[in-house]
Amino acid sequence: MQLEPRDRLIVALDVSSVEAAQSMVARLGEAVSFYKIGYQLAFAGGLSYAAELIEGGKRVFVDLKLHDIGNTVAQGVKSVARSGATFLTVHAYPQTMKAAVEAREGTLRILAVTVLTSYDDADLAAAGYDFTVSELVAERAAQAHDIGIDGLVCSPEEAARIRNIVGAKMILVTPGIRPAGTEPDDQKRIATPAAAIAAGADYLVVGRPVVAAPDPKAAAKAIVAEIAAAAERRERV
Ligand code: C5P
Repeated sequence: MQLEPRDRLIVALDVSSVEAAQSMVARLGEAVSFYKIGYQLAFAGGLSYAAELIEGGKRVFVDLKLHDIGNTVAQGVKSVARSGATFLTVHAYPQTMKAAVEAREGTLRILAVTVLTSYDDADLAAAGYDFTVSELVAERAAQAHDIGIDGLVCSPEEAARIRNIVGAKMILVTPGIRPAGTEPDDQKRIATPAAAIAAGADYLVVGRPVVAAPDPKAAAKAIVAEIAAAAERRERV
């Protein structure tokens, strides 16, 4: 997929208010073109703020990880589509994915979350699954592909294997990104921006390494530079 390096970086606006989001977006300026709005901001006025961002020429990823009965998922997807958002996440359960794909319209693309990057095999066992993370990710990726989902959210560690399962067309979005020398926080499966691109990711979601950095704009620019170099290397191979 041919994308400008800057447009491959999605900054997670994991802040508690629209005011805090507005000030972060102003600080980041032209360094960032794509923002993710998750639970924290969405439930504090962030969905109306998404429209403001889109009007201002930014792209928006609504990360609400929907999972409900089919009709409820479909109606939710339609509402998000009307906002002009680019990406919306759903959990990778077949019924949920089918409902979302059938209801999507306009510019909205549906991404399925395979297994949260904070989960390891022990967490899956505790949730009652008889699968390793790697097995469950592969199973869900194949199901998402068959259902016609536009893309997947996966850990950078799994991106290369998932790319082999789903082919070149599906969009791969990887959170769990940590530039060399930054804290893993609660993420268990992490990679540098360069490693994620090399593994076949199309977009990288980065939260704390940008929004909690002493200089968020410099942090974003450094990540975009790392993406640019890695994307160029990937194209040469
Ligand atoms: O701060 P950090 O870079 O860890 O933020 C990662 C973002 O990606 C968070 O907003 C988190 O909710 C999201 N995410 C994730 N793992 C997934 C899907 C989304 O970490 N599988």
